[in-house]
Amino acid sequence: MPHLITKRQLTIQTPSEKDGVFFDFVAKSPKEEKICVKAEGKKFFLTKLAKNENDLIKLDLTTRVTPISIAKKALKTYAELANCEIISSNIASSPTKMEPKKEYLKEISYFVDEFETKKEICIEVGFGSGRHLLYQAKTNTNKIYIGLEIHTPSIEQVLKQIRMENIENILVVNYDARLFLEFMGSNSISQIFVHFPVPWDKKPHRRVMSHEFINEALRALNVGGSLELRTDSPLYYEYSKELYSSYEEESTILKNQELEVSSKYEDRWKRMGKDIWDLTIFADKISPDIIINKDFTFNIENQYLFDEIIKILPEKPTVQDDFMVHFSHPFKITENSGLIHVSMGSFNKPLSIYILVDNKKISYFVTLPLPTSSNHKAHELIEKILINEEKR
Ligand SMILES: C[S@@+](CC[C@H](N)C(=O)[O-])C[C@H]1O[C@@H](n2cnc3c(N)ncnc32)[C@H](O)[C@@H]1O
Repeated sequence: MPHLITKRQLTIQTPSEKDGVFFDFVAKSPKEEKICVKAEGKKFFLTKLAKNENDLIKLDLTTRVTPISIAKKALKTYAELANCEIISSNIASSPTKMEPKKEYLKEISYFVDEFETKKEICIEVGFGSGRHLLYQAKTNTNKIYIGLEIHTPSIEQVLKQIRMENIENILVVNYDARLFLEFMGSNSISQIFVHFPVPWDKKPHRRVMSHEFINEALRALNVGGSLELRTDSPLYYEYSKELYSSYEEESTILKNQELEVSSKYEDRWKRMGKDIWDLTIFADKISPDIIINKDFTFNIENQYLFDEIIKILPEKPTVQDDFMVHFSHPFKITENSGLIHVSMGSFNKPLSIYILVDNKKISYFVTLPLPTSSNHKAHELIEKILINEEKR
């Protein structure tokens, strides 16, 4: 993460600009400052906090920016404007070191706002070493494969492989598969592979397969499309068989079926003489289109200024079955405005975001939450909390 350690210095005057980098405002809490930066069309924060006798200035984790060279330029420009005495830094850019090309690694927002293709789409959940994903993509160059994974080293490894083998029909996304299908259009996917998912024997609620996941899969699959689970876990097999049995769609179960490609895990299980089950369910209906609601405006008549709002925020997180909200860290900008950090949405993968209160106007900042159902539920609760008259 790019950062500077500098001798303690005063905050810069805002708004100010140098070399195309704009510093719009500074929001302060007793321990930290958030410096709002606009550069190369992107908005993000730098965080400044005390480190022993010095200051540490770094990229804010909630509003990360890519490519990282933008953050480095912002830090360098900040240091120049504030006339900082730099003690150490890691922002020097070496002309020979190129940032790795990651055109096949997509942000989740790409799938919400931009993704469109006329090609057949297949999805692999938790691709791990990627053997199956790479094999499928190389064998079916006319189809697009979306690979979902949450383990960064596996993602890096597969991206390297994609580059080395010049594969052009894989898109990789670092996102929880349990939430991803919500963004896929109805009847748009041909195959969903879930091969050797983590069995979570002691925490079954963390499994990828669930009624919610199967419902979303059957909606997103086209007629004849399939959701294919392959597992070596007897418990996961029994659990999924039970799940499938409550659907009227056709499903099949095969035992110890050889596939054209064998994954790393599979090789290990086979050597141990374990059984492997394939449970496949086929979509057989046209599902109605979904409308993704991207509206996260605050439809409330806010009468109150920042100081009054932060007094009514609950200190403890609110955790419901399918969403959570946790307010933390208010940062003051002016007498009448400030930022509130909030974690919201899915309990397993909460979204970290800021709410800006600017002279009674309330909005998310610097981006809107992703339009997941858990974020919408969390947003509704945030609105209710912000207009809670009783507590004022
Ligand atoms: C046991 S490995 C199997 C990997 C690969 N499918 C294979 O057969 O070798 C399970 C993989 O699923 C990934 N994973 C677990 N939960 C996930 C989730 N909710 N969304 C996406 N990937 C997930 C893990 O990071 C891991 O790489």
